[in-house]
Amino acid sequence: MNQKEYKIAVIPGDGTGPEVVAEGLKVLKKAAEKYGLKYETKIFDFSGERYLKAAKLVDDADINELKKYSAIYLGAVGHPEVKPGILEAGVLLKLRFALDQYINLRPVKLYNSEFCPLKDKKPADIDFVVVRENSEGLYKGMGEFKDKGTKEEVAAQISYNTRRGVERCIRYAFEYTRKRNMRKKLTLCGKTNVLTYAWDLWQRTFNEVAKDYPDIATDYAHVDATTMWFVKNPEWFDVIVTDNMFGDIITDLGAMIQGGMGIAAGGNINPQGVSMFEPIGGSAPKYTGKNVINPLAAICAAGMMLENLGEVKAGKAIEDAVIEVVQTKLKSLAAGKMGYSTTEVGDLVAANLK
Ligand code: IPM
Ligand code: MN
Repeated sequence: MNQKEYKIAVIPGDGTGPEVVAEGLKVLKKAAEKYGLKYETKIFDFSGERYLKAAKLVDDADINELKKYSAIYLGAVGHPEVKPGILEAGVLLKLRFALDQYINLRPVKLYNSEFCPLKDKKPADIDFVVVRENSEGLYKGMGEFKDKGTKEEVAAQISYNTRRGVERCIRYAFEYTRKRNMRKKLTLCGKTNVLTYAWDLWQRTFNEVAKDYPDIATDYAHVDATTMWFVKNPEWFDVIVTDNMFGDIITDLGAMIQGGMGIAAGGNINPQGVSMFEPIGGSAPKYTGKNVINPLAAICAAGMMLENLGEVKAGKAIEDAVIEVVQTKLKSLAAGKMGYSTTEVGDLVAANLK
C-alpha cells in the first residue's frame, strides 16, 4: 500500500511562536515515529518581523503555495512595533479568509482541577467545544466612516452574515456534535433580543437545520448569559455554535476556565481544503527567548491537526500525553511557573507519548 505523506506548512511567527512551535514539532516527530506517519515540513516566515524588514504580508502567491499543503501549523503572529490591525488583517485573517477556513474549532477542556480558577470544578465539568464561525460577521471588515475626524463623525461596522455562511457553520456544528457523541447537545449562542437581523437569520437557520438532526438536543443562550454560565455551570455545555465576534470573546473566557492561554488550542478548518492549527494565545513578546512559555497549547494544536488529517489515534495519543503531564508534573500552566522550562515540557510530553 502506498502510504500517504503529509506536507505541513509551518509558520512559527513572532515572539514566543517559534519556541512553542519547536516543541509541537518535537512531539509531532515522536508521534509520527510511534504511529508510522510520514510527513515533511516547510517553514514560512510570515511574521511582524518580516513585515518590519520587508513590508511583506501574505499575498495571493503565498496562498496558492499553501493550497498544496495538507495542513498549516501556526505559532503566533503579533509584534509590539506593528500598529494593531495590520498583521491581523494581512496575515492571520488573510489566511483564514483566503483559505476559506470557515470554522474555528476551540475545545475547552479542563485537564487538572488545580489549574481551574473556578471553585469545585472537575475535569468532567469543563469539557465542551466552541464552533466559531470564522469567515463572516463583524470580521468581514465592512463599514465606513462619515465625517472622519470631525465632531459629527460616524463609524459604522457591519456584521455581515450570509445564509450560506451561517448554514455551513451550523451544519458543521450539528455533525460535530453527533460525531463527538457525548451529551449530544448543541447550544446556539447569540443575541436574538437585540441584534434582530443577524440573529434572526442565525436562529431561523439553526431551527431548520436542527430538523435534520433529531438525535441532537438543541438549546439557545444569549452571549452575555453564556459568559455567566461558563463561570457558574460550565457542565451544561457540550457543543456551542456562534458567530465570529462572539466566538472570539467567549473562547478567551473558555481558555481561562480550562487553565489559561498556555493550554488552549484551536483549529481554523476548511473541511474541504487546507486547515490551520494554532495555540489561541498571542505571541507573548515579553517572554520571548526566555524558555519559559507554556508550549502545551501549541502541542495540543499539533494533536488537533493530526486528528483532522484523519490520524485520530496519533492525535489522541498527543492529547493523552499532555493530560498525563498536566496531571502529574506541572506546578502551573502559566509562563515561568510550570516548574519546568518550555523545552522540558516538550520533552515530558514526548516521553509520555504512548
Ligand atoms: C483569535 C485572535 C484573533 C481573532 C486576532 C489576533 C485577529 O484573537 O484567534 O482569537 O480575533 O480572531
Ligand atoms: Mn481571540
